[in-house]
Amino acid sequence: MLKRTHYCGHVNSKDIEREVVLFGWVHRRRDHGGVIFIDLRDREGVVQVVLDPEFSPEVHEKGKDIRTEYVLEIKGIVKERPPESINEELPTGRVEVFANHLNILNESSVPPFEISKEVDIAEDLRLKYRYLDLRRERMQKNIIIRHKLLQIIRKVLIERHFIEIETPILTKSTPEGARDYLVPSRVNPGKFYALPQSPQLFKQLLMVSGFDRYFQIAKCFRDEDLRANRQPEFTQLDMELSFVEPEDVFSIIEELLATTFREILDVKVETPFSRMSYREAMERFGTDKPDLRFGLELKEITTLAQELGFPPFSKLIEKGGKIYGLVIEQGDRFSRTELDKLRDAALKLGSGGLAWVRYDEKVKSTFGSKVSPDALLKLKNKLSIPDKGVLLIVGDKEEVAQTTLGHIRLTIAKKLNLVPEGRYEFLWVTDFPLLEWDEEENRWVAKHHPFTSPQDEDIPILEKDPGKVRAKAYDIVLNGEELGGGSIRIHNSDLQKRMFNVLNIGEEEAQAKFGFLLEAFKYGAPPHGGIALGLDRLVMFLTGSGSIRDVIAFPKTQKAVCLLTGAPSSVDERQLRELKIKLDV
Ligand code: AMO
Repeated sequence: MLKRTHYCGHVNSKDIEREVVLFGWVHRRRDHGGVIFIDLRDREGVVQVVLDPEFSPEVHEKGKDIRTEYVLEIKGIVKERPPESINEELPTGRVEVFANHLNILNESSVPPFEISKEVDIAEDLRLKYRYLDLRRERMQKNIIIRHKLLQIIRKVLIERHFIEIETPILTKSTPEGARDYLVPSRVNPGKFYALPQSPQLFKQLLMVSGFDRYFQIAKCFRDEDLRANRQPEFTQLDMELSFVEPEDVFSIIEELLATTFREILDVKVETPFSRMSYREAMERFGTDKPDLRFGLELKEITTLAQELGFPPFSKLIEKGGKIYGLVIEQGDRFSRTELDKLRDAALKLGSGGLAWVRYDEKVKSTFGSKVSPDALLKLKNKLSIPDKGVLLIVGDKEEVAQTTLGHIRLTIAKKLNLVPEGRYEFLWVTDFPLLEWDEEENRWVAKHHPFTSPQDEDIPILEKDPGKVRAKAYDIVLNGEELGGGSIRIHNSDLQKRMFNVLNIGEEEAQAKFGFLLEAFKYGAPPHGGIALGLDRLVMFLTGSGSIRDVIAFPKTQKAVCLLTGAPSSVDERQLRELKIKLDV
């Protein structure tokens, strides 16, 4: 084989009259009777190769057998293209390579889909032939951007004195709340490893070991229902730092993300990012991951709604419920049917319903005759609703009312095209509740994980009023998506014991699950905290991809299947016997 002088995509006007050696795949082939043109492609781009019978009859003859996706070795002379065939859109578009040597290194069967064009291809087919899908320009770009991101992470964090440390994949259950993927141990029959849902416990142990600042590009495994943008196996950027406050973690992530957006997208991101408490986010946007690219804020209108004299509202308020409103200024863009659809959506979201008021020449509403037009007009003035505006109202338990309207806010923004493209609104959501009530289990559970520290001023009410305790926990949100989350941890064993008590985790259970961490905390655990960013989600933003599967080289389907390899698959009877496992399926 010859020695390559250039990547195809790098040949340019500076190389005119030079001899080059290229390797690549046949992207397209055009036979113009006398001359054959080949677009030769490698990962850096495409260059036009000319097989001219007058330049090299032998090469031209060989060119007749060539088909798309054949692998070629080409030697030739770079020439300037005639003015009429210059293609300014291609970086190599001013030149072409006249081949004086051509070697077919490999042939190719006809691929199951076109690689040279960005066309819609059924995703199952793409995943089955992922190696061909990855040859396509868009996918190459995505994977290369992912690679660049990893380089930037390493550069920024190493400059900030972080140390990269790997933690085990075959381990014990970690406390992220999803189901574990289990791996049976042959050497210890009847025993199982759990694949890590995150390196949470190990990164805390590394702080006890004194590494001070750790990071890792960590594979995490969670057996959970695969909603959009979730994969059973995904990648986190994990970090843990000793002797820090949340603001220290924020500033590192801000620098990292600003550098990433500048270097990859040439976008200037303002730092520091905005901060908002969980409570404020819920009140104004009905979600803990608000999209700040548009307004359309919720309003708490419990008192105003009470004045409507609508009996169901009064009853709800008596029971401690809250009433929230959302004003659609361009209410005339919503037909009655569409408003009713929003109502159906509200029911599906678990609320008792949704009322609407339309302020046309006449006031129309779902209240019918039960509320007077005058009372509704008073509401219009108080809320400064413009003519033609529509007011949506949801009354329920506070969180249900908020989240219902939070979802509806997104639907409305989409319909009214309120979401600007090309804007990146980062936000720190802080002061999350430490605990949430689990109706099914009838007990308090940790909202983040059981090692998250309560805020100092709330520690005294930990047992008395657990629902009111705020955590030193934070999420980083971008355009309404949770990019990552973390917390300052508990490093004091007394406080950890109190936390386990509130969570109804007994001494024995705590020992069995996390005994090694609790033991480690006896030996001078430094105050510490950290965060994990979902790398796949970040790459989705950086590449403008609509699916998490488009930024992972070999992803799984929504059913957790790898269509390329066929995993998960049956195993030999012998393997099961060795593991002492009997199937019951
Ligand atoms: P958390 O569970 O919030 O935190 O996860 C951090 C980030 O990981 C991403 N993520 C996922 N991405 C793709 N597919 C999934 N199934 C998936 N699950 C989570 C999200 C999420 O914000 N140990 C803590 C971090 C810490 O406290 O330091 C943790 O794992 O972007």
